[in-house]
Amino acid sequence: MKILIKNIKRLVQVEESDPVTLRSGKEMSELNCIDNAYLIFKDDKILDFGEMKHLNENFQGSVFKSIDAKGKMVIPAFCDSHTHLVYAGSREMEFFDKQRGLSYQEIAKKGGGILNSAKLLHETNEDDLYKESMVRVEEIIGFGTGAVEIKSGYGLTPEDEIKMLRVIRRISETSPLTVKATFLGAHAVPLRYKGKQEEYVDEIISEMIPVIASEELAEYIDVFCEEGFFTVEDTDRIFNAAIKYGLRPKIHANQMGFSGGVQVGVKYNALSVDHLESTREKEFKALKGSETIATLLPGSTFFLNMDYAPAREMIKYGLPIALATNYNPGSSPSGDMKFMMALAALKLKMSPEEIINAVTINGAYAMGISDTHGSIARGKRANIIITKEIPSVEYLPYAFSTPLIENVILNGKIVK
Ligand code: NIG
Repeated sequence: MKILIKNIKRLVQVEESDPVTLRSGKEMSELNCIDNAYLIFKDDKILDFGEMKHLNENFQGSVFKSIDAKGKMVIPAFCDSHTHLVYAGSREMEFFDKQRGLSYQEIAKKGGGILNSAKLLHETNEDDLYKESMVRVEEIIGFGTGAVEIKSGYGLTPEDEIKMLRVIRRISETSPLTVKATFLGAHAVPLRYKGKQEEYVDEIISEMIPVIASEELAEYIDVFCEEGFFTVEDTDRIFNAAIKYGLRPKIHANQMGFSGGVQVGVKYNALSVDHLESTREKEFKALKGSETIATLLPGSTFFLNMDYAPAREMIKYGLPIALATNYNPGSSPSGDMKFMMALAALKLKMSPEEIINAVTINGAYAMGISDTHGSIARGKRANIIITKEIPSVEYLPYAFSTPLIENVILNGKIVK
């Protein structure tokens, strides 16, 4: 079926001829828009768009469902390239431990944090885990997300990691979201391997990766490369094994310190290096000219009360930036991309154009789907957001807690 959206106040992030797959550095200030526009999609693909004054000549005479978007903006659905949204229970007590002065690492050392979520996940069966996670899936669709990357990493045993990845697969089969799965067995060292970290890395390499790859449960492999979690040497071993099975690296790098995570990520041609609160020229240099995108997660920086990643310096250095929510129960219990846009403006000092690029086309790149998602281009997936009546695109990060998304269309179907 063809659907027409007409009288769009501003159609945002359009690509007329040569669709880009990524915007870096200065290009992040480029944002192509059409005012007083129309957009037509057929089934799950974008068919055509342009100025309203050209609509009649392009109108094919077929029966359309027509949506009047007078006063409203249409933008590509958000691409959230870093989440841990499959989890059991919640961790609000640790949130208050933090207010009483404990750090994220101190909570982890006491058996809280990721290990706490691993215990809760172990006690939850696959069906219940799916149901709990689907509540968050519905929530983020309502926030305008159309594509999401979801990591395992609260299993930490072969059985529980596979349980998580099966739930991620089920979400991809049953929800309208485009889903990419990442295996993150190296998220924390489980208690049974306390003091024997290398043996846990052996288990990941010899018992988890081969099964996960043979069942095609994940496309990406991730490691939390940070002091108190996994070292550069552990990461090197895991990536070296994983790439032989066709899993492409992504990495949690430089969140709490200068871990060397960026460099080992680039060495293995990681699709993205994520967090990056502790980075400077040495890391920028490693990233420059690589195929690895810097993904910033300002929700966790905000929630953990840390210093923000140096986004302006990165952009000045010519690097591409994606923004993601890092939706998880410990460091970012929010899947709201619009809130991340507000933090990007306030704390990362990014411009409106840079922010839109970071949550659409660059987010799509960071999950390997920018050929099909992340912009309004003919033939791309009909994944779009229609806003409420708003004065400008800048209004989205500005009115940071107002629900401004009227409709979400995924795969050509109105889902909100
Ligand atoms: O990206 N840093 C590691 N992983 C998550 C936090 C996970 C958790 O605390 O449960 C993050 O911040």
